[in-house]
Amino acid sequence: MGLYCATICGTKSHMTASEKVALVTGSSSGIGLLTTVELAKNGFKVVASMRDLGRRERLDQAAASAGVAGQIDVRQLDVTNFDAIPAFVQSVVRDHGRVDVLVNNAGFAVAGFAEDMKLEEIRTQFETNFFAHVAVTQAVLPTMRHQHSGHIIMVSSIAGLHGSVSVSSYSASKFALEGWSESLRMEVNALGIKVVLVEPGSFQTDIWTRNVMMGQKAVDGTSPNRARGERMRDAIQKIRKRDPIVVAQLIARIARDPNPRLRYLVGQDAHIQLWLKRALPWKWHEKLVAKVLKID
Ligand SMILES: NC(=O)c1ccc[n+]([C@@H]2O[C@H](COP(=O)([O-])OP(=O)(O)OC[C@H]3O[C@@H](n4cnc5c(N)ncnc54)[C@H](OP(=O)(O)O)[C@@H]3O)[C@@H](O)[C@H]2O)c1
Repeated sequence: MGLYCATICGTKSHMTASEKVALVTGSSSGIGLLTTVELAKNGFKVVASMRDLGRRERLDQAAASAGVAGQIDVRQLDVTNFDAIPAFVQSVVRDHGRVDVLVNNAGFAVAGFAEDMKLEEIRTQFETNFFAHVAVTQAVLPTMRHQHSGHIIMVSSIAGLHGSVSVSSYSASKFALEGWSESLRMEVNALGIKVVLVEPGSFQTDIWTRNVMMGQKAVDGTSPNRARGERMRDAIQKIRKRDPIVVAQLIARIARDPNPRLRYLVGQDAHIQLWLKRALPWKWHEKLVAKVLKID
C-alpha cells in the first residue's frame, strides 16, 4: 500500500482534483495526434507518447492552435521496446498520479500478397500492431485495477473484421487484437475497466504513405503477383480517404462515456464493407472485392 501511495497518490502529480489522465501511443501523426488534441480539448491531461521526439513539431503546432499545449505532456516511447514499457508507465503514474484512459493507437501496415510475405515481415507487423498493445495494456492494468476504473481503447480497423487483399499480415494482427480485446473485456468488466475496439475504415493519414512497409518480394520485383499488385495499388490509390478528425472525436466521446460498447465502427466504407460481408453469400462477396480491386 505504501508503494501504491507513492506511485498512485503521486506526490509529484500536476493534476487538479477533477482532471483525468489519458495516455496515447503513436501521437506524432494521424489519428494519435488528433486524438491527443481532442482529449486535451475535452479536459484530459494527455501523456502523448511517440517513438521519435524529433517528430513532435506537428503535435506541438496542433496543440498550440487549439490552445491546449499546457494539457499535453510529450514523452518518448517506442512501443516495440518491450523492456522499457513497465518503467515508462510507472513514470507516468508517478508524475500524474493515475491513468484513466489508455489509447493503444501506434501502428503501421505491411503490404504485399500473402504468398510473398516473409515470416519475419509478418512478425514485425505483429510486434507493433498486436504484442505492443498487449504489453502497454498489461503495464497499465495494475493501476486501473487499483483505481477500480479505466478505459482501454484499442485502435483496431475494419481490417480486423474483414480480411483485406494485399494486407493479410495487417488484417491478421488486427484480428488478433480483436480476439484478445474481446476476452480482456470480459475479464476486467468486474474490475470497473472498460475495453473498447475502434474500427476505422479508410482515413487520410501517413499509414497510406510513410508508414506502409512493402514486403521485400513486392519491392525487388521477384513476386509472381507483381502485375496484379500494380493493378491493385492503382485501385487502392483511388479509394476515398476521409478526414481522421472524426475518429479522434469518436475516441474522445468514448473516453468520456462511463458505459461504452465493445465495438465502434467508424467511416461509411467500414459500415458498407461489414454489411456486405454479412449480407452477401461469401462467394458473391469475394467476386465483388476482386472486381473492385482488379485482382482477378
Ligand atoms: N488511417 C486509416 O485509414 C486507418 C484505418 C484503420 C485503422 N487505422 C489504425 O490507426 C492507427 C493509427 O494509424 P494512422 O492511420 O494514424 O497512421 P499514421 O499517421 O501513420 O500514424 C501511426 C502512428 O504510429 C506510430 N508508430 C508506429 N510504430 C511505432 C512504434 N513502434 N512505437 C511508437 N509509435 C509507433 C507512428 O510514429 P512515427 O510518426 O514515428 O512513424 C505514428 O505516430 C493504427 O493502429 C492503424 O492501424 C488507421
